[in-house]
Amino acid sequence: MQIVVPEEFKPLWIHDADHPIVKLPHPALRRVAQPVVKVTKKTQLLVDDMLRIMRRANGVGLAAPQLGIDQRVIVIAPMDYRPMALINPVITKMEGEVLGTEGCLSLPGLYGTVKRAKYVEVDCLDRRGREITIELEGMPARVLQHEVDHLDGVLFIDKVDVATLHWAQPGEQDADAE
Ligand code: NI
Repeated sequence: MQIVVPEEFKPLWIHDADHPIVKLPHPALRRVAQPVVKVTKKTQLLVDDMLRIMRRANGVGLAAPQLGIDQRVIVIAPMDYRPMALINPVITKMEGEVLGTEGCLSLPGLYGTVKRAKYVEVDCLDRRGREITIELEGMPARVLQHEVDHLDGVLFIDKVDVATLHWAQPGEQDADAE
């Protein structure tokens, strides 16, 4: 899909040292990321960076490829949840279907309706490298699925109902960006 960024949204699409989140069509967004072989201090520093950058961007999720980093690491902070890191996340169970509006920090200002599973179970490593299983439902499950897609080079515009795609200033939109 060809995305033409309207003039008034172009300032949001800057990618430089002060705006570390890469934007479409950066090639990092289309790569399949590599599993983390061992969770080290370096991985933890990456997680801390990701949490900080996500917060500063007012996002609810961020995947390492969005920083141009080729590793299967995501952070999510959906409403009412403590921010958490998931390393090498694998969705092991998906149930139900629900429509919802999504945006993405790598396509800032663009929103649309995406169908996602309502409930997911995820196996992953936490920030300290411990194996954990997480169950998520509703909005947190949506964020998780969006971020795991980033690890496989998939963007929400690949799954969106094209008729619902629209531009809105972040903050004036009822969905958060991921
Ligand atoms: Ni995204």
